[in-house]
Amino acid sequence: MCATKPWPAVIGDSIAKGTMRLLDNESVHLRRPEPEDIETMYRYRNDPQIVASLGYFSRGFARADIAEWIEFHRKNQADLVWTISDRDDRCIGHCGLYKINPRNGVAAIGICIGDESFRSKGVGKMILCRMIEYAFQQLNLRKIRAEVLASNQPARNLFTKLGFETEAILREYKYRNGQYLDLHIFGLFRSKWQERQKT
Ligand SMILES: CC(C)(COP(=O)(O)OP(=O)(O)OC[C@H]1O[C@@H](n2cnc3c(N)ncnc32)[C@H](O)[C@@H]1OP(=O)(O)O)[C@@H](O)C(=O)NCCC(=O)NCCS
Repeated sequence: MCATKPWPAVIGDSIAKGTMRLLDNESVHLRRPEPEDIETMYRYRNDPQIVASLGYFSRGFARADIAEWIEFHRKNQADLVWTISDRDDRCIGHCGLYKINPRNGVAAIGICIGDESFRSKGVGKMILCRMIEYAFQQLNLRKIRAEVLASNQPARNLFTKLGFETEAILREYKYRNGQYLDLHIFGLFRSKWQERQKT
């Protein structure tokens, strides 16, 4: 289902230096966020369509908020955030593994392709595959969670396609534009993922 490729020999070291690329293909790369990404992130994270598709409430972001967010995730051991960049190394979105808990072997996963021209071309699926592989094979996690608004049909389809199962629906959990929306909690076990890789 997801093509695999060898991992760099010294992953921990390269992550610590902020140099590791999680994914390289012709059109997109994953790399650690840099200050140069702030302007693009500022734009798409304030885009009302993107805000509406994501599960969190936004009061709007200043550039300083984005810079703080990058710095917070750079230092926080429990989160691994990557910039999605195009072939010219320009930021087109971000993705990450959040709330990584080695004791329980769990984490949450998230992705946002900010540049619309890169959507619906298989990029989201490819990146999620790569992050899932990384979580299971390198971080030795055993379960990944995703939270998706009921109104976000593309993301629900995508996680379902990758083998995530709906474990809970939090009814009328999020207030958006005058209505309460359900929040779908998806889960994927490593055992199921590995089983699907064989087929
Ligand atoms: C959701 C998102 C990550 C999907 O990424 P993408 O690169 O556009 O999706 P892909 O091209 O890899 O498509 C993979 C699958 O997702 C589903 N999908 C993607 N776009 C879809 C759309 N517009 N409508 C319905 N299903 C869609 C389909 O099942 C698709 O499989 P298919 O092409 O075989 O039909 C991307 O649209 C995005 O970042 N949106 C804004 C932020 C967001 O919603 N993030 C997710 C929050 S949990």
